[in-house]
Amino acid sequence: MKKTILLAVLGLSGSLYGKSSPINGEPTQLRCEHLVNPIGIDVPNPRLMWMLRDDRQGAVQIAYQVFVGVDSMGVVNNQGEIWDTGKQSKADILVSYAGQKLVPLKRYFWKVTAWDKDGKPKSSAVASFETGMMGRNSWKGTWISDHHDIHHKEAPYFRKQFEVKKTIKSARAYIAVAGLYELSLNGERIGDHRLDPMYTRFDRRTLYVAHDVTAHLQSGSNAIGVVLGNGWYNHQPLAVWDFHNAPWRARPAFCLDLRIVYTDGTEETIVSERDWKTSSGPITSNNIYTGEHYDARLEHDGWDKPDFDDAKWRGVRYRSTPSNYIVSQQIAPIRLVKTYNAVSVKKFDEKTYVFDMGQNMAGVTRIKVKGPEGTVLKIKHGERLHENGRLDLSNIDVYYRGDKEKDPFQTDVVILSGNKEDEFTPKFNYKGFRYVEIISSNPIVLDESNLTAYFMHSDVDPTGQVRTSSKLVNDLWKVTNNAYLSNLMGYPTDCPQREKNGWTGDGHLAIETALYNFDGITVYEKWLADHRDEQQPNGVLPDIIPTGGWGYGTANGLDWTSTIAIIPWQVYMFYGDSRLLADCYENIKRYVDYVDRISPNGLTTFGRGDWVPVKSGSNLELTSSTYFYVDATILASAAKLFGREDDYRKYDALSKKIKQAINSKFLNTESGVYADGTQTELSVPLHWGIVPEDIKAKVAANLNKKVEETNFHLDVGVLGAKALLNALNNNGYGETAYKVAVQDTYPSWGWWVVNGATTLLENWDLEAKRDISDNHMMFGEIGGWFFKSIGGIMPDPDQPGFKNILLRPIFPVGLDQSEVTHRSPYGEIVSSWKRNKKTIVYDIQIPANSTAKFYPPENVEGSGEAIELVSGKHQLKLKLR
Ligand code: BGC
Repeated sequence: MKKTILLAVLGLSGSLYGKSSPINGEPTQLRCEHLVNPIGIDVPNPRLMWMLRDDRQGAVQIAYQVFVGVDSMGVVNNQGEIWDTGKQSKADILVSYAGQKLVPLKRYFWKVTAWDKDGKPKSSAVASFETGMMGRNSWKGTWISDHHDIHHKEAPYFRKQFEVKKTIKSARAYIAVAGLYELSLNGERIGDHRLDPMYTRFDRRTLYVAHDVTAHLQSGSNAIGVVLGNGWYNHQPLAVWDFHNAPWRARPAFCLDLRIVYTDGTEETIVSERDWKTSSGPITSNNIYTGEHYDARLEHDGWDKPDFDDAKWRGVRYRSTPSNYIVSQQIAPIRLVKTYNAVSVKKFDEKTYVFDMGQNMAGVTRIKVKGPEGTVLKIKHGERLHENGRLDLSNIDVYYRGDKEKDPFQTDVVILSGNKEDEFTPKFNYKGFRYVEIISSNPIVLDESNLTAYFMHSDVDPTGQVRTSSKLVNDLWKVTNNAYLSNLMGYPTDCPQREKNGWTGDGHLAIETALYNFDGITVYEKWLADHRDEQQPNGVLPDIIPTGGWGYGTANGLDWTSTIAIIPWQVYMFYGDSRLLADCYENIKRYVDYVDRISPNGLTTFGRGDWVPVKSGSNLELTSSTYFYVDATILASAAKLFGREDDYRKYDALSKKIKQAINSKFLNTESGVYADGTQTELSVPLHWGIVPEDIKAKVAANLNKKVEETNFHLDVGVLGAKALLNALNNNGYGETAYKVAVQDTYPSWGWWVVNGATTLLENWDLEAKRDISDNHMMFGEIGGWFFKSIGGIMPDPDQPGFKNILLRPIFPVGLDQSEVTHRSPYGEIVSSWKRNKKTIVYDIQIPANSTAKFYPPENVEGSGEAIELVSGKHQLKLKLR
């Protein structure tokens, strides 16, 4: 370490976890399959993981031992009768279960003992996981539905009454659904999830959800209620993506096992069978894409309670199983995460009101209102207002082909009962909106107390934070996350209103931003399973996933469908968990092999190109071939990781061939320009590692010049927006990158924010006539880039999952203070600095059991010399040049 660069390097002691007394060496945060004490685990070798809580400088785990058993006290006493790893002298914090064969429907307890740097062992608290059905043989119920067909509008309600005669020890409800459901027991809704089960390719993989319902049952009479919604399973509205022609389409159906274990050791399973009753109810129409219609006069009070008179209800019908593969949904559920009240309500006349919720979001609204019987309220949701203040849907209803009168877009239709205050929140729909317009058929008095908005999304834990002295940086980070969460519904979507499609490109362009900010692994593991379900025998993937068949067109190429390689790779980088990469390995191979077959010279135009550019188009063959290179490189690295030597050699050679082909066709080695030298054409090869070492500086200088020419404004589409800031920052032009990132005149990210955007938009041009959703994530690199630049926190490909952290912060002119944090699998990483005239005081926190390597940036003395840091807190005083 050079004294000249650092005025001081201090190791700071004290708790990393706030002011509480230090805890040294205890494993905490136990998770199974990345979830806390999950139930319904179907995989035979679930992953078990933990975090070492140790705030001493240089804390490491020198060994661990995992105990798994069926008796919690036994596990407390170090008995792992199902699995005992023995003491393993390793720093690992993630292991795959490899003990005795797990059996279905059983609760397992586990704990871990960790040996700290002084060789002292400490045990974690006991955690649990419970297996699910683990295959078809455990199910006892049968698939049932009502008697209607796909065109029927009313949502079916189902009920069954049963007696409990003994004392209950535990009860679990397992419900597999083709469509959407809400489950209730004795009049109470089970759980707080929304839109379960998540959207999958229903005819290939059907999800079931396991609920702990012990507390919902009572001795004596009990009643179960199930309401089914259409969701993506029975897509009634017409839209350009043909979901109404999906091969799986049918009237929703379900299969349920309610398994009760009594204290005397006996068991009983209440199942979906012929003896259930069904009826329509107040939901008179429901569509994931358009809205829900509800007639409060049709409520059956007490329908899901015992002793309800169901004499008028009909019998049910058996249905065939929707797919042969019924697996547990193990994923962060969708929830109503945040509540918004209107910031203003404007009355246009006594029947018309417009509410401004102050934030663009994905979600639903709840209306609570009393009015004359039969009053019809049309509750329309949208992102924009006309000049006269009325709701404008014209930017988002463009691909809807249904009947706008009978089934208006993004609109709930509610009919009031007249005899009480009615309350309605759609169960089987969500919308993208900031504004809500209510048009009533009768005069009605409404104010902000009548309408509440709920921001809903896959409820992934936040893991990142950006707090700086720049309001614009802070706003960009927030706005990015609002767009991200609006587009996370069990799969990443492009937008929550116009399409709700799992556009692959949008998904991978946002993956780093996603993983810096949220613990989203379960959602991506599910989405990549959807990819595997959709892959054609020849390796091709559709560009929206899941799909009812649309998206196998001509542009579904590498810049979009490289999700299959890029997402598993990034998940491995951020979590150090290679399960997803292993699960997708053969799929990546088939994909790369396909492109190889159609691209004998290593170049390809299979792709869409730099979508929604500011003005300059970029060369399709250059960008598509670059993504081909990325996939081949990831495949080669994965082959190496998994010890597949032959594959490694083959795909390493392929990636070299592609790089060579790109450079010989597109790179002018004299001038250092690719193709026509647009921002995208220069930054894409730089960012993705195509540029030969000796020409990098020239290409980067050209890119810098290009950006200076636009006075630090963007001239890119989605591919350039992903690459540009990184290409500049990683090649010595961090200051330029930062200027572009915080630019606030057109065209820039900041231009959106200064114009009032609360989510990221789809188009740079606010006056554009198409591609104008106001809640899109495809330009979402910006929010993640702050972690890599002013925070400088990066995973080390040689020790992924932040086992070793690369710290490459920049201290750009114009920014005085920055605190960036990321909770990695090892714990909280903090990279925080403050400018003090000619020095930077840099505070770093490295979690226990990990290390870091700090690369001082070029504008501080002694740059070029990396500094290795142990876990703990450090303060560095750096002299600015
Ligand atoms: C979507 C985009 C998507 C694009 C691909 C649009 O309609 O909203 O986000 O990636 O199509 O062409």
